Amino acid sequence: MVPTVEWKDGAVRLLDQSRLPGSVEFLECRDYRVIAEAIKGLKVRGAPAIGVAAAMGVALGAQSVSVAGYDEFAKAVSAIGDHLAATRPTAVNLFWAIERMKRKLAELRNRPLTEIKRALIEEAQRIFDEDVALCKAMGRHGAALIEDGQTILTHCNAGALATAGYGTALGVIRAAWEQGKKIRVIADETRPVLQGARLTAWELMQDKIPVTLITDNMAGALMRQGRIHLCVVGADRIAANGDVANKIGTYSVAVLAKAHGIPFYVAAPYSTIDLATKSGDQIPIEQRDPQEVLSFHGSPLIAPAGVEVLNPAFDVTPAEYVTAIITERGVFKPGELAVQFGA
Ligand code: MRU
Repeated sequence: MVPTVEWKDGAVRLLDQSRLPGSVEFLECRDYRVIAEAIKGLKVRGAPAIGVAAAMGVALGAQSVSVAGYDEFAKAVSAIGDHLAATRPTAVNLFWAIERMKRKLAELRNRPLTEIKRALIEEAQRIFDEDVALCKAMGRHGAALIEDGQTILTHCNAGALATAGYGTALGVIRAAWEQGKKIRVIADETRPVLQGARLTAWELMQDKIPVTLITDNMAGALMRQGRIHLCVVGADRIAANGDVANKIGTYSVAVLAKAHGIPFYVAAPYSTIDLATKSGDQIPIEQRDPQEVLSFHGSPLIAPAGVEVLNPAFDVTPAEYVTAIITERGVFKPGELAVQFGA
């Protein structure tokens, strides 16, 4: 897979996901503000990937801060972090990564600024490397839940494109495929931004993993016909009680899965688990531009001009609908997370 986010030659190179699958284009960012715009505009998207991009954004911005002392430097870098944090509210990985960069900065307060600048690049790279390792570990644990011959439904894109590499939900699927299991993926197209159609279908086809695309409203009928054996999705934030925020439409899939007795799994690393948020009701849900609903990936209007539109980018699936959460440490019931991941 082409890397989604990469530190390359003193710049941050992003795969522009808003252009996929039509064209594979990269955005070379030499200004952290360009990264912030790319996060807002879904050029880089998916909870772990925006965390990595933001960490690299902090490191990038820090390189061009030219002040004499630590206090001024720290203030400027902290403002860069705040700018990046103000892009999208739901995925907790964004805030987690920026906080981790700020902690590294504070740790090095007695070191020369040139050394701190270098260390920030190294920390961002470490976040990247760790993310790939976390995804592979999730893959190992999750693949055991998939049997040879099964068909798996996924929603949105929780793949290599949404992470530093390998993917969370698609990492689990990828690992099962690599073990030689003959599986098939049903990808929900994921209106309104079509991450399933544009990204998941593309990503799985690149790896030659069998995939069938459906519109979101077809999932229930397929479940009723016995054509889906399990569901695996990613997450943007998991609250302490196991409630899961993920792409809008995930809740509907979970309710349908429960109604049909189909296991519904969520794959996510520790950086997505937010124990400070007690339940899903407290997770901020991003509201996006109505234009995304009014047209179909840049098409002419598909609704009467002026119609009122709702466009929440995420929903919350209550823990009772989640069979288990696949993490890098193993597979847990939603209610076990607080104990497993508590300090
Ligand atoms: O709006 P997006 O495309 O950033 O939403 C992405 C999702 O909802 C993913 O399912 C989630 O971030 C998990 S990615 C491993």
